[in-house]
Amino acid sequence: MSFLRNRLVVLGLVLLATVLLYLLLPSIRQGSMEPSLEVQRMGLSVGTPPPSSPINITIRTRQLPGDPPLFFREALPVDAAGRQILPKLQIVLLHGQAFTSKTWEELGTLSLLATNGYQALAVDLPGFGNSPDSETVKTDQSRAELLRMFLESLGVRTAVLISPSMSGHYSMPFLMKHSTQLHGFVPIAPVGTRSYTAQQYQAIQTPTLIVFGELDTNLGAQSHKNLLQLPNHTVAKLQGARHACYMDKPREFHLALLDFLNKLD
Ligand SMILES: *[C@@H]1O[C@H](CO)[C@@H](O)[C@H](O)[C@H]1NC(C)=O
Ligand SMILES: *[C@@H]1O[C@H](CO)[C@@H](O)[C@H](O)[C@H]1NC(C)=O
Repeated sequence: MSFLRNRLVVLGLVLLATVLLYLLLPSIRQGSMEPSLEVQRMGLSVGTPPPSSPINITIRTRQLPGDPPLFFREALPVDAAGRQILPKLQIVLLHGQAFTSKTWEELGTLSLLATNGYQALAVDLPGFGNSPDSETVKTDQSRAELLRMFLESLGVRTAVLISPSMSGHYSMPFLMKHSTQLHGFVPIAPVGTRSYTAQQYQAIQTPTLIVFGELDTNLGAQSHKNLLQLPNHTVAKLQGARHACYMDKPREFHLALLDFLNKLD
């Protein structure tokens, strides 16, 4: 008799646990949904606009003449009705070794920036995509100068520079030499962060969003450690993402980027 009672007690406990789990699950799941709620609150649209989107962002391709000439893609900022507006900031996007300016178009980043009021300029670095290689960009100094010329020629005065991986060969020398020309800096596990001293880092006031993938224990971890020396930084570590973390987790990347840009003036 007591054997049967014990079994009934155990069965009761199992049922109770099941019911509790069932009741708790929705609130646990809601907890993990917080980022998307935040997106709605902020009125931002994240990710590639659906095909039925009322606004079609035109992405123009252009070429800046020079030695070397630079090919780039441009998306101009629009309001909610699709009318062109003055940019809040100008976002210049570089790319990694295996990528080009096209990557940012395909990921939806250029359209996303334009619909949020930013001018987006994605460059093919020399020797990639549609920009020819050149002997004139073999030193840090010449690469910093190439970026400076690009910004000056296009009248970019409120630049935020996004720089993944290999493009650190350009962005890091530029940051060290011309940081006052940058309103913001978004390094994504760039190369070349080891070449500078603590004093050089500490002298830079540019607000910086350090982005890297949780699984990128090599360049990601190394650049993160070095870039932490920049006085005004925030960090976006993308969970479950590898080196090209913006490709692995575009939604999380876009969310962190828009949040960062929103806090700049
Ligand atoms: C946007 O582009 C799509 C595909 O090119 C087209 O079918 C649609 O009519 C366009 N919408 C507007 C509002 O221009
Ligand atoms: C850091 O940058 C933010 C903009 O992202 C700015 O509002 C803030 O004043 C800066 N802080 C310092 C100490 O310069």
